[in-house]
Amino acid sequence: METKAKKQETMATTPTTVASDVKSMELADVGRKRMDWANQSMKVLQSIRKDFIKTQPLQGVRISACLHVTAETANLMITLRDGGADVALCASNPLSTQDDVAACLVRDYGIPVFAIKGEDNDTYYSHIMAALDHKPQITMDDGADLVSIALTKRTEVLANIIGGTEETTTGVIRLRAMAKDGVLKYPIIAVNDADTKHMFDNRYGTGQSTIDGIVRATNLLLAGAKFVVAGYGWCGRGLAMRARGLGAEVIVTEIDPTKALEAVMDGFRVMSMTEAAKLGDIFCTVTGNKSVLRSEHFELMKDGAVISNSGHFNVEIDIPALERGSSSKRTTRTFVEEYSMKDGRKINLLGEGRLINLAAAEGHPASVMDMSFADQALSVEYVVKNHKSLENKVYPVPVDLDKRVAKLKLESMGIKVDRLTPEQEEYLASWSEGT
Ligand SMILES: NC(=O)c1ccc[n+]([C@@H]2O[C@H](COP(=O)([O-])OP(=O)(O)OC[C@H]3O[C@@H](n4cnc5c(N)ncnc54)[C@H](O)[C@@H]3O)[C@@H](O)[C@H]2O)c1
Repeated sequence: METKAKKQETMATTPTTVASDVKSMELADVGRKRMDWANQSMKVLQSIRKDFIKTQPLQGVRISACLHVTAETANLMITLRDGGADVALCASNPLSTQDDVAACLVRDYGIPVFAIKGEDNDTYYSHIMAALDHKPQITMDDGADLVSIALTKRTEVLANIIGGTEETTTGVIRLRAMAKDGVLKYPIIAVNDADTKHMFDNRYGTGQSTIDGIVRATNLLLAGAKFVVAGYGWCGRGLAMRARGLGAEVIVTEIDPTKALEAVMDGFRVMSMTEAAKLGDIFCTVTGNKSVLRSEHFELMKDGAVISNSGHFNVEIDIPALERGSSSKRTTRTFVEEYSMKDGRKINLLGEGRLINLAAAEGHPASVMDMSFADQALSVEYVVKNHKSLENKVYPVPVDLDKRVAKLKLESMGIKVDRLTPEQEEYLASWSEGT
């Protein structure tokens, strides 16, 4: 085991002929460098990988993952593989694949990958089908597309599945709806809901990388711009905070009064989208909802307004309505479609309304995905160990697992924290103290 483990740690497997569908194997060297770069910032995942190599907790477990195919995801796939799993990967979004990373996973690690950046809808779904052909025992999803196809069009795969994990807010919402309607056929761990996931990935990861995507797509100056953030949840808070940091005048729209109030007290202007539509220079939706920007808003927007989305699905901006309200469109830059409205105004749609941080930039920085994917790896191990006692429900990540990831992250940053003294433990546990 030791020799095998050592070998796995230092090298990729010998290239094998693996069924896959990626853009070009010639990109693999670039992907390799990108993965190595990300790995340097993924110390928690590295330490889990070392444990996995020794203990082989996933020995022989077949996993189908439907995730954004990025360098960070590649490092998660390698960790699972090194834990003994037999992994296949497809994209969770047609625009988020890093083709070079996909090629490297196939060529150097023998991991089947089905993902090509810019794939059309049919190819996207055929890739999900290919990942299900792997006959998974565990599904790993980002948005619940894999689970919903398994539950509807590929029910024959359900017999093998013992459980799954879900990465994002939108996926967790869909899965809870499935569980409520009694159609979910196996347990899922809501990785998104771990503190070490949403408090960091959604807030700091999405916050920074969404700005990165908008800036890379447009090269606009944010200082002095009116930047409208729709949705003040975990992602929206991070985005609003970072846009303000770059000097934008940030306007928040919400439907939840408590979140709206929080945004007000955090110092942002809050108003309805009808009001904001008239003022905004740049808009970004991040709600998990649909038609947040729609024709009534397009009609009010200024000439040259830029609209984008960082929520999971490309339904937050009503693109069919934008098409209907316009007389023509042209691509002015990569990821920028300029719509000429019937009254002559121009509205610029970024990245086809898909998550702009993944479409035009590189997604979240590796150091934040380090925690999310540590949660993923440990949640898979948890499902393998505990699936017999789990029902067909959506479960939170166990608290001790969540705390372990936070502790490992702090250690990797060289930060020590205090511990409770016995006296403090007693004080906190007692209801009679306090007089
Ligand atoms: N781009 C990325 O990389 C990335 C990363 C994590 C999550 N996500 C996705 O981003 C979306 C938001 O995730 P989150 O974790 O912030 O969710 P969240 O539930 O914490 O926040 C969503 C917020 O949007 C608000 N909202 C809903 N409908 C609205 C509307 N019509 N107008 C204004 N506000 C509205 C809700 O009240 C809520 O406060 C989800 O689709 C999630 O899957 C994307």
